[in-house]
Amino acid sequence: MRRQGKCPMANARLTCRAPSEKKRRAHQASSDVPVELERKTQMKVLIAFYSRSGHTEQLAREMASLCGADIDRIQDIGPPRTGLLGYMRCSWQAMRGSVATIRPTLHDPSAYELVIIGTPVWNWSLASPVRAYVQLHSGHFRRVAFFCTEGGSGDQRVFAQLESLCNQAPLEKFAVNARDLATGAHKAALQRFIDRINSASLRAA
Ligand SMILES: Cc1cc2nc3c(=O)[nH]c(=O)nc-3n(C[C@H](O)[C@H](O)[C@H](O)COP(=O)(O)O)c2cc1C
Repeated sequence: MRRQGKCPMANARLTCRAPSEKKRRAHQASSDVPVELERKTQMKVLIAFYSRSGHTEQLAREMASLCGADIDRIQDIGPPRTGLLGYMRCSWQAMRGSVATIRPTLHDPSAYELVIIGTPVWNWSLASPVRAYVQLHSGHFRRVAFFCTEGGSGDQRVFAQLESLCNQAPLEKFAVNARDLATGAHKAALQRFIDRINSASLRAA
């Protein structure tokens, strides 16, 4: 896989914007997160995630909507990961620590003050496409934060793997159970995660 050059979009935005009033109201209409809880983050933030069945994508998009971050979906190349065979391939690759082949992403992570990396938990490990993304860009992340979605366990091991691959401690970590994601029970915790990121970034500035 080829390392992507600096993305022209990276220069187009000098600061991370809060969502426009129109977007905020549209988001409010489709979400239970009160507008008054939303915060503007001062940092230029990128959220990079992989999602096989949509949970991590849902969380990534809610997060981006709350903090006005850019977003990059990590996509791998290869046979579809659907069905029993797809599940087994994911599981096997995660267990072995395999590195998937991924498509070039849109944004250059080195142009961001913070990259928030999201992964589903596979076999108590990070997903192989996320391993590929982190290995590709390791050394180019200024600061990182991590999140994952899971069925119930494995998040701490995944965060330790990410920390080791990134070679730096994250500003913050956030794990969500897929059941809570479905009911919306995660939303207050998500807002607290964004608030902690903002506080940590102010301390680090
Ligand atoms: C191959 C595979 C292995 C998984 N292993 C775990 C696990 O070890 N622990 C866990 O809590 N959930 C596990 N899950 C459940 C996923 O982490 C969970 O459904 C997650 O929200 C999926 O995210 P996605 O919809 O973004 O792909 C596994 C799912 C798959 C497909």
